[in-house]
Amino acid sequence: MKDNSIFTERLILREYKLEDFDTIHSYASDSETVKYMDWGPNSLEATQHFLNEVIGQQAQNPRRDYELAIVLAKENRHIGGGGIHISNAKNREGWIGYTLNKAYWGNGFGTETAKALISYGFNQLGLHRIYATCDPTNKGSARVLEKAGMTLEGIMRQHKLKGTQWRDSCLYAILETDIKK
Ligand SMILES: CC(C)(COP(=O)(O)OP(=O)(O)OC[C@H]1O[C@@H](n2cnc3c(N)ncnc32)[C@H](O)[C@@H]1OP(=O)(O)O)[C@@H](O)C(=O)NCCC(=O)NCCS
Repeated sequence: MKDNSIFTERLILREYKLEDFDTIHSYASDSETVKYMDWGPNSLEATQHFLNEVIGQQAQNPRRDYELAIVLAKENRHIGGGGIHISNAKNREGWIGYTLNKAYWGNGFGTETAKALISYGFNQLGLHRIYATCDPTNKGSARVLEKAGMTLEGIMRQHKLKGTQWRDSCLYAILETDIKK
């Protein structure tokens, strides 16, 4: 199988393995970490379902979903997850997302991950447009997307259902032409 690992200055984004269960669950079950997500906090079953699903993606042909483990290269430590997903192959559009274990917040890893996923999307997947959404109150994620070169295109009203609550989302995007300027 093709090695889809992405290497950055400090990180390796690599395919998930069954052995990643505990390190995924440690952040996916944390209520502060998933506060702005439309999933979680995860039960053990929810984490297993996620892991089965992302490992299953590795066999897609053609591949549309690249959900990868974020590993701190120096320590070979799994610290989070990030992914790029082809949402519309004809229009060459994809989206990115990421979650870090909170022990590693504030070190630039979120920005490094977003930049790496965007670069992979344009250079390896041939995408034209890459978007991301975040909760309007998720200041950290909004800043990550801005630092990665994305533009705020608008607010999508009641875009996500978390429990019984509808949440708005900010829509950010970057075009391949934005970075070739
Ligand atoms: C969002 C997240 C990935 C940010 O990761 P990170 O590695 O801490 O981010 P960075 O260190 O790259 O910081 C990027 C910028 O955001 C700012 N920032 C980070 N967290 C912030 C917060 N909670 N409030 C305000 N600004 C914040 C940083 O100061 C930095 O800006 P600066 O360079 O202008 O100072 C991380 O907090 C996380 O995993 N959160 C939980 C999951 C999540 O919300 N994912 C995104 C879903 S859309």
